Amino acid sequence: MNIILFGPPGAGKGTQAKELIKVFNIPQISTGDILREAIAKKTNLGMEAKKYMDLGNLVPDEVVVGLVEERLKEADCQNGYILDGFPRTVTQAEFLDKITNIDKVIALNVPNGEIVERITGRRTSKKTGKIYHIKYNPPVDENEEDLIQRDDDTEVAVIKRLENYDKQTLPVLAYYKKKNKTVIVDGTRNPMEITKELIEILGN
Ligand code: AP5
Repeated sequence: MNIILFGPPGAGKGTQAKELIKVFNIPQISTGDILREAIAKKTNLGMEAKKYMDLGNLVPDEVVVGLVEERLKEADCQNGYILDGFPRTVTQAEFLDKITNIDKVIALNVPNGEIVERITGRRTSKKTGKIYHIKYNPPVDENEEDLIQRDDDTEVAVIKRLENYDKQTLPVLAYYKKKNKTVIVDGTRNPMEITKELIEILGN
């Protein structure tokens, strides 16, 4: 089962993907995580990508499609995968169609008003990668988790990311709607409720 989790920054793609991979036993492929790993390792690609990411801009298509193409060849993707944060432009979606077949696109719908608060309050555990929110989903023990904040989770960068989402990424939703593969899900509810609905949709 090849799935795309679609939605604006902070819609809960990562949060939901981490639950779904346990249920369906397929990997989460987050282009954001792959790029952040490259930044942490200070590779040339990572340093180049950082310039775009910190400003809230998209990394050029030719860089990202190459990363995804390589990742999808790995053994753990042979029974399916959950794409989180890819494709983000119509060019990326067209590329994906050339190399694989997508079964379902799940679009998490969250209004812009909620996004800024979600993103500026997001913290990630350095130890486990688990995603928290200082208000909505705080960890039991903050020190134990070694929480970090992403460099692009500033208010200025989030506003830019939302602008870019509307301009460059929303057309991808129209692209998949035409193919009748899209299900829109209300992403404003409790995360567990959303996970339950996603499992039902994908289980069918
Ligand atoms: P990426 O890492 O993909 O970031 P994003 O798409 O902006 O999405 P986020 O990770 O910010 O949000 P999310 O939807 O995963 O939400 P989360 O579950 O964490 O990309 C980062 C950058 O990399 C891009 O800007 C770009 O530069 C580059 N990039 C990546 N892919 C690219 C591509 N394909 N092409 C070009 N460039 C690319 O949740 C957010 C917060 O909300 C958390 O605190 C969470 O606890 C909370 N939360 C989650 N669900 C709920 C809920 N239901 N109720 C209340 N709070 C919730």
